[in-house]
Amino acid sequence: MSATTQTDALVVEGLSGGYDRFDVVHDIAFRVGCGEAVALLGPNGAGKTTVLRAIMGLLRHRRGRIEIDGTDVVAAPPHRIARGLAAMVPEGRRLFVGQSVEDNLRLGGIRLRGDRARTEELLAGVFELFPVIERYRDREATALSGGEQQMVAIGRMMMADPALMLLDEPSLGLAPLAIADLSAALRRLREQDRSILLVEQRVDIALEVCDRIYVLSGGRIVDEGRASDMGAEGRALIDAYLG
Ligand SMILES: Nc1ncnc2c1ncn2[C@@H]1O[C@H](COP(=O)(O)OP(=O)(O)O)[C@@H](O)[C@H]1O
Ligand SMILES: [Mg+2]
Repeated sequence: MSATTQTDALVVEGLSGGYDRFDVVHDIAFRVGCGEAVALLGPNGAGKTTVLRAIMGLLRHRRGRIEIDGTDVVAAPPHRIARGLAAMVPEGRRLFVGQSVEDNLRLGGIRLRGDRARTEELLAGVFELFPVIERYRDREATALSGGEQQMVAIGRMMMADPALMLLDEPSLGLAPLAIADLSAALRRLREQDRSILLVEQRVDIALEVCDRIYVLSGGRIVDEGRASDMGAEGRALIDAYLG
C-alpha cells in the first residue's frame, strides 16, 4: 500500500462504487502526484466517468479511500470537495446555455465571490492561456465552435482554482483541427504544473499530454505505465484494451 506523501494531489485506494446497489468500479487504486498529469484510458462503459464522479463526491454509493491534496474526501459532500479541492470539465462540457463566455467563466469561480482580486487574477490567467476565448468573452458560450466551447469549459474549471483538475473526455465530438488545438491547450495547462487527471479514449492525446497512464477496463485498473516508456508495443497493448 502506497503511503500518501506531500507530493500527491490525489490518492485513490480500494475504491469500489456504482449505482443503486451495483458496483461498476472495483478496488480501484491509483495516484496523481502534485504537478503531475495522469491519464485514465478506457473504452466506453469501463467506469471512467464513475471514477471521476466518486472523486467529486457525486457518487452516493462509494467506499474506499480518496484523498485530495491530503484531505480524505470519500464521505465528503460535493460542495466541500468543490471548495478548492477538485473541479471537473464534465463529459459533453455542459456550458450554461444563454450565458456569455465571461459569465460561464465567472460562474466557475463562484466559490471565490468574496475575493474579487483573486477572481480577476484567475480570469486573466484563463484569457492568457486561451486568447481566442477572450476575443469572444461577450458572446453566448454555446454559439462558439466545439473546440472553443471546450476551452471555455476548461477555463470555467480553472476559475475554481482547484488543487486537482479532472477532465472527462474533452476530445469527444471535436473535429480533428479542434482536437489539435485542445491537445496544445492541455499541454500548456500541464506546463503550469497543474495536477491533472485526464480521462480519454484517445491514446495519442493521453501520451502527448500526460506523464503516466492507467488503463481501466471492466471497472478495474488493468495496466499502468509511464507515457515516455510507451513504445509501439505499449500502444498496441492499450489499443487492444480500448477495443
Ligand atoms: N446513472 C447511472 N445509473 C446506472 N448505471 C450507470 C449510470 N451511469 C453509468 N452507469 C453504468 O456504469 C458503467 C460505467 O459507466 P461510466 O462510468 O459512464 O463509463 P465510461 O465513462 O468509462 O464510459 C456502465 O455499465 C454504465 O451503464
Ligand atoms: Mg464517460
